[in-house]
Formats: sequence, structure tokens, C-alpha cells
Amino acid sequence: MKALPLAAVLAALLAQPAGAAGPAPGRTDLSPEDRERVTSITAPAADFSAAEPFEMMQAGATTIKKLLNADIFSHPSANLSFEGRQRFLVGNGLFRKDWVSSPSSTQASDGLGPLFNARSCQACHVKDGRGTVPGFDPLEQFDAVALLLRLSVPPVTEADRQKLTQEEIAFLPEPTYGVQLQNFSVAGLPTEGRMEISYEPVLVKLNGGETATLMKPTYRITDLGYGPMRDDVQISPRLAQPMIGLGLLESIHESDILANAAADHGDGISGKPNWVYDIRAGKKVLGRFNWKASQPTVEQQSAAAFHNDMGLSSPLFPDHYGDCRKPGQASCYDMPHGAQPHLGEHEVPARLMDFVTAYSTNLAVPQRRDPDDARVLAGKKLFYQANCIGCHTPKYVTSRNATQPEHQFQLIWPYTDMLLHDMGDGLADGVQEHDATGREWRTPPLWGIGLTATVNPNATYLHDGRARTLLEAVLWHGGEAQAARDRVVAMTPEERADLIRFLESL
Ligand code: HEC
Ligand code: HEC
Repeated sequence: MKALPLAAVLAALLAQPAGAAGPAPGRTDLSPEDRERVTSITAPAADFSAAEPFEMMQAGATTIKKLLNADIFSHPSANLSFEGRQRFLVGNGLFRKDWVSSPSSTQASDGLGPLFNARSCQACHVKDGRGTVPGFDPLEQFDAVALLLRLSVPPVTEADRQKLTQEEIAFLPEPTYGVQLQNFSVAGLPTEGRMEISYEPVLVKLNGGETATLMKPTYRITDLGYGPMRDDVQISPRLAQPMIGLGLLESIHESDILANAAADHGDGISGKPNWVYDIRAGKKVLGRFNWKASQPTVEQQSAAAFHNDMGLSSPLFPDHYGDCRKPGQASCYDMPHGAQPHLGEHEVPARLMDFVTAYSTNLAVPQRRDPDDARVLAGKKLFYQANCIGCHTPKYVTSRNATQPEHQFQLIWPYTDMLLHDMGDGLADGVQEHDATGREWRTPPLWGIGLTATVNPNATYLHDGRARTLLEAVLWHGGEAQAARDRVVAMTPEERADLIRFLESL
């Protein structure tokens, strides 16, 4: 690495918010020499005249350099071992495969349902990228696949509240319909219902005479298959997220994340951890995955996806009936399930689950495009000046103790603090999930976001896919991000274009 000029180092140190100087004290994985290196390399950028050392390789040695086409999110990490690649390939097959309902002649792939949202992981995580919501065209606003509607009811009684703490659940499911609306079911069983989305335009005037039109969604559930839902049902829409770099996000040292939560930036921003239940560990741990950081590990989220989205049991979620509920959906339990005594007690046995997890933790992040371009660098400076980095933390060096050697001690640039933030009324879903309130969302990583349309031309942004462009996504920011958003509104059109060019280079 080329030595940084002293002035740049000093400027970087001065630019650092209080409490964020170098790796957190809790990082027992680092030697004193490591600590020094990590401090200098993770200091926020201070010089915007050139790219920073290693900036191109935004996911460290795992970063891939491949042809930019629709498969760009589907490659294994560059440094994955031969054995790791074999496991990745098997996992890839399972991620793409269409499961079928039981009984069937292909016994190893049956057990789908009885209620489900999709037949494969890939149906929602399109080409390992984010999912598609039905078009914003009024004629096609029905029955999304990759957009789930989570269902819950607020705690009303003391018993409800006890249930939330004692059973370690994220929220109280709708009593008849469960944790989410499944808009598909196996033959002979009613589906739960259909979703309808309508959009209302919201105009935002920008400095320089431009106007942006945001689309505010409203959700409705029709054709209910099992009678009425509770009047106080709460609906939280969730779009399937991109699958890249997840093993690295799992390898960020917990102390580095918590140090940001504790830091007083003096800018009205205060990240909050979501403490969620880890089934394997049998205790609450730091949540990292999903739009509200409601899942602790890639493995647990993947198993939850099999269970809730596809109705398939696995060691962490052993119930074969997925999100069916008693007594409201008793007929669901009359349906056959797909567990085969000779293959183990689960529809997705531990061995297969391990392959899916290996796949989901090793999808590579592509390298940056043009980090040295003058417009990109100007946009990067604006990203810092608007204090986007108050939440979208640029870089980390991952833990030396990460489970997988490929993920250890990597300099990564995910642009997330992995913490929850109040994002204002505009984005609020009103639903509490573990410690995340109805106004809080986890800062999503931004790496790879510039390749969104390369992977899925119909993909959109934010937790419910309401933002059709990166600028719209930023303009929806409110709450703790209101000041950052207002700075973007106040930029000249050229500055805004530079900021977007920077995002597109990630
Ligand atoms: C019906 C659509 C759908 C299917 C099928 C689906 N997912 Fe997802 N996936 C989602 C949604 C929606 C989210 C975000 C959920 C949330 O925020 O609560 C998500 C989130 C994830 C995440 C967390 C990503 C992150 O950045 O935090 C992982 C990992 C994941 N899914 C893996 C899988 C695997 C493995 C499968 C197949 C077993 C699968 N998914 C099937 C819709 C789906
Ligand atoms: C207070 C914390 C905070 C600040 C400050 C902030 N963001 Fe965000 N950002 C978030 C959160 C949380 C989300 C997800 C919100 C949602 O999906 O409802 C998000 C989402 C995004 C997305 C869409 C990501 C995706 O995967 O769909 C982009 C792009 C983005 N932010 C860019 C920016 C830019 C540019 C700035 C500075 C002008 C900024 N953010 C400032 C917290 C923040």
C-alpha cells in the first residue's frame, strides 16, 4: 500500500466523528499492529482527488472482476477454495430449483406448501439480485411474487406482551393468516388472498427547477380464503434483497457495529441495534439481515425463507406446514407433506440446508467501476458532505475470527452501519419487529447498487420497491436522514447527477 501523505492522515483523523477512531476496543481479534493498520485504512476519505487505495476491490479479496451482464451477481467469491466452489455449485442448484408439492415422483424436491409465495428462492431473488414488484402501471398492480406482505397484530393484552418476550418471536402473527400472506397454495387448498397495490404520486420540487415524482404505495388484500383478518391487522411490505456479500456482512466484527450505535455524532443520527433470537445459539444476538435486521445469520434467514415463503421444513424450522395456522386453517394440516423417512425428518435435510447457506454466504460483490473518474469522485465528496456516511458507513476490516477463512480480515466497503434508523413517516410501516419500531429500518448496504438494472432491468429500490430510481430512493429519506435528504434537494442539478454517478459506480 502506498503511504498516505501526512496532511491527508491528519485531515482524516479530524474528519472522524467522535467515538469512531479506528476499530472498536472490543476487537480482541486484532494484534496491536493490526489495530494500527485497520485504523489508518478505515479512516473516512479526506482526499477526493483520487480513488483511495484498494477502493476498486470493494469486497476485499472476495471481489470479482467479470463481464458486466445479467449474471454479475451470480458468481462465487474470487478467493473461494476449490471445495468451497463445489459446495457453492450444489447450493446454486438448490437456490434455483423449483420445489413441487407432495406426493410426487421426485421425492427429493417435494414438500412445497401447503401455502407458499414462490416455488424457488430465485423466483424472488431474481438472478441473485433484488426482486420485482408489479409495474407501476395501474393495469398490472396485482400479485407480486418477490414482494411479501408480512402480517401482524399489535399486542393488546398482558398475555400478548408476555408471548412476545417469552417466545422470542419478532411480532404477533395475524391469528388466522400467520406471519405473511401466501398468495399460492397446493391444489385443493384455498389460497390466502391476493394483494393489490395502488400508487399515488407525490411531487418534490428540487433546486434548479426540476421536479421529482415519487410514488406512494397503498396495499390492500382481497379474496380472503379463510375468513376475515383481525381488524387491527398490520401489513408490512418487503421486497426480496440482493444476495451479494452476505458472508462478509456476517463477518463484520460486532464491536465495530455496536461502536457506531454508541457513537454520538452530534448530527441527530443514532443507529440502534436490533437484538433478535438466534435459534442455533439459543439466545438473543445482534440482528443483521432483512430490511429490519430481524435475522441474526444468513443460515437462519435462509431456513426461515424455506419455512415461510415456500412451506418447507428444515432443522431450524422443523414444522412441515410452514405458515399454516390452527384452528383457522385446519384444512391446511390435511395436506400431505414431503418429509421422507429415508432422507431424514425434514423436507430440506441439514445436508441440503448447509449447501444453500454456503451458496448464500459466498455470492461475490463485483468490483467498482470508475472510482477514479472525476465526476464519481465529486459525487463521493457530496456523499460525505451530505452526511450520507452518518448511516452508510463506508468501510470495515472484517474479523480475523470469521467462520470462513475467505471472509477473514478483509477490507470491505459495504456502505452500511448495519443499524436501525428512524426514517420518518413516509417510509414507516407501523410494525414493530423485535426491537425495530414501525419507523425504523436497517441501513442497507450500497455495494453493487449501481448494477441493479444490469441484473434485473425491472428492479426498484427501498424495502417495498417504491423507488424507481436511486434519486427517488434518496428523496424518500426522512426522520434521522431528513437533513441529508434536504441537502440533496438543495444541490444543483449537476451536483445531484454527480452524487448519483457515485452511487452507480458502487
Ligand atoms: C417469496 C419471495 C422470496 C423467496 C421465495 C425467498 N426470499 Fe429471501 N427474501 C425475500 C424478502 C422479501 C426478503 C426481505 C425480508 C425482510 O425484510 O423481512 C428476503 C431476504 C433474504 C435474505 C437476507 C438478505 C439481506 O440482505 O439481509 C436472505 C439471505 C435470503 N432472503 C435468502 C433466501 C433463500 C436461501 C431462499 C430460498 C430458500 C429465499 N431467500 C427465498 C423474499 C424471498
Ligand atoms: C439516518 C440514516 C441514513 C442516512 C443519513 C442516509 N441513509 Fe440511505 N438509507 C437508510 C435506510 C434505513 C434505508 C432503507 C430505507 C427503506 O428501505 O425504507 C436507506 C436506503 C438508501 C438507498 C436505497 C437502498 C436499497 O437497497 O434500496 C439509497 C440509494 C440510499 N439510501 C442512499 C443514501 C444517500 C445518497 C444518502 C445521503 C444523501 C443517504 N442514503 C443517507 C439510512 C440512511
